[in-house]
Amino acid sequence: MKGQRLWPSSLPIFLFTVLTSLTFECSAEFDSLLQLPLSRLNTTRPRSKGIFYLGDFGAKGDGISNDTQALMEAWKVACSFPTRARIVFPASNTFLVHPLELHGPCRSRVTLRIHGIINAPKDPNAWAGLNPRKWLYFCGVNHLTLEGGGEINGMGYEWWMSSCKINSTNPCRHAPTAITFHKCKNVKIHHLLVIDSQQMHVAFTNCLRVVASNLKVIAPAFSPNTDGIHISASRGVMVKNSIISTGDDCVSIVGNSSRILIKDIACGPGHGISIGSLGKQNTSAQVRNVRVDGAVLSNTKNGARIKTWQWLCH
Ligand SMILES: *[C@@H]1O[C@H](CO)[C@@H](O)[C@H](O)[C@H]1NC(C)=O
Ligand SMILES: *[C@@H]1O[C@H](CO)[C@@H](O)[C@H](O)[C@H]1NC(C)=O
Ligand SMILES: *[C@@H]1O[C@H](CO)[C@@H](O)[C@H](O)[C@H]1NC(C)=O
Ligand SMILES: *[C@@H]1O[C@H](CO)[C@@H](O)[C@H](O)[C@H]1NC(C)=O
Ligand SMILES: *[C@@H]1O[C@H](CO)[C@@H](O)[C@H](O)[C@H]1NC(C)=O
Repeated sequence: MKGQRLWPSSLPIFLFTVLTSLTFECSAEFDSLLQLPLSRLNTTRPRSKGIFYLGDFGAKGDGISNDTQALMEAWKVACSFPTRARIVFPASNTFLVHPLELHGPCRSRVTLRIHGIINAPKDPNAWAGLNPRKWLYFCGVNHLTLEGGGEINGMGYEWWMSSCKINSTNPCRHAPTAITFHKCKNVKIHHLLVIDSQQMHVAFTNCLRVVASNLKVIAPAFSPNTDGIHISASRGVMVKNSIISTGDDCVSIVGNSSRILIKDIACGPGHGISIGSLGKQNTSAQVRNVRVDGAVLSNTKNGARIKTWQWLCH
């Protein structure tokens, strides 16, 4: 499809089914309520209450030093702060962040204000011994916001080149999702550039009430499986005013998701907007109440589609 407005008003897709209750746990212990003594903060500069600069936790922000520990410590403090907390990534800095998990529950709302750049390690070996599907992983957080006009860069090139979809002599393996929100509620992610993810860019799994807006999600058309926004087992997700141009689906929606609104997005190049694949290995899966309203798809492999697995016969 080239540059044509697909749906003048809207395309509601309703699949009615029974939604069963969801019980998933975060994969590690909640540690955020461990109090980090505030005396460890650098107080030589005056700081507003509840605003935490990554540099005050030892981050160098030079794009070369490992800033992972600084982010983990900033998270511990912000997440146990009694009122709204903001972690600031200044515009002039590039932070190198290795795979990490940031867990809730937090005492109050937490915002990551990303004005600068967050880079992943280029080398897939940085994941040795770690879960290859995760880079920035948020779990069990209520009222979490990512914003700030900055950039999150998955540095995915080496992952793509080692994919079996690029070169069939490579073994097939999983690659990280750049940003995952798992079991989070009231998530906002807006005004960010998310580029070159190792695999999927932004995923919401088992989340409730999400708004993703004013995002630019960009990766080359040849990059394998680099879905823009992936929604799984989540309810009440709005994706709006965003530009998504990757090597796979702009938005993909899989099992047990409902009340999904995709509004005013530009999609392409990419594979389009997909529900599924649903029902792998004879399982049943339900997706219901999906609305796409105001999407411009250009240079996409498909428009909007539903993908299902076939029944297996004996
Ligand atoms: C605290 O911040 C100031 C100003 O940025 C810096 O010069 C100083 O080295 C920092 N101190 C510590 C202990 O990090
Ligand atoms: C970077 O820091 C994290 C957290 O301290 C650590 O787990 C990781 O091994 C470090 N990576 C390298 C390459 O130094
Ligand atoms: C695919 O990978 C193999 C083994 O690493 C390499 O020899 C070959 O040149 C690669 N092919 C392409 C087209 O890059
Ligand atoms: C959907 O829910 C069913 C029943 O709880 C579960 O077996 C299945 O794994 C879920 N699917 C997804 C994609 O979460
Ligand atoms: C898959 O489900 C269908 C319909 O219930 C059934 O006929 C078929 O035998 C099942 N196949 C397997 C391999 O379980």
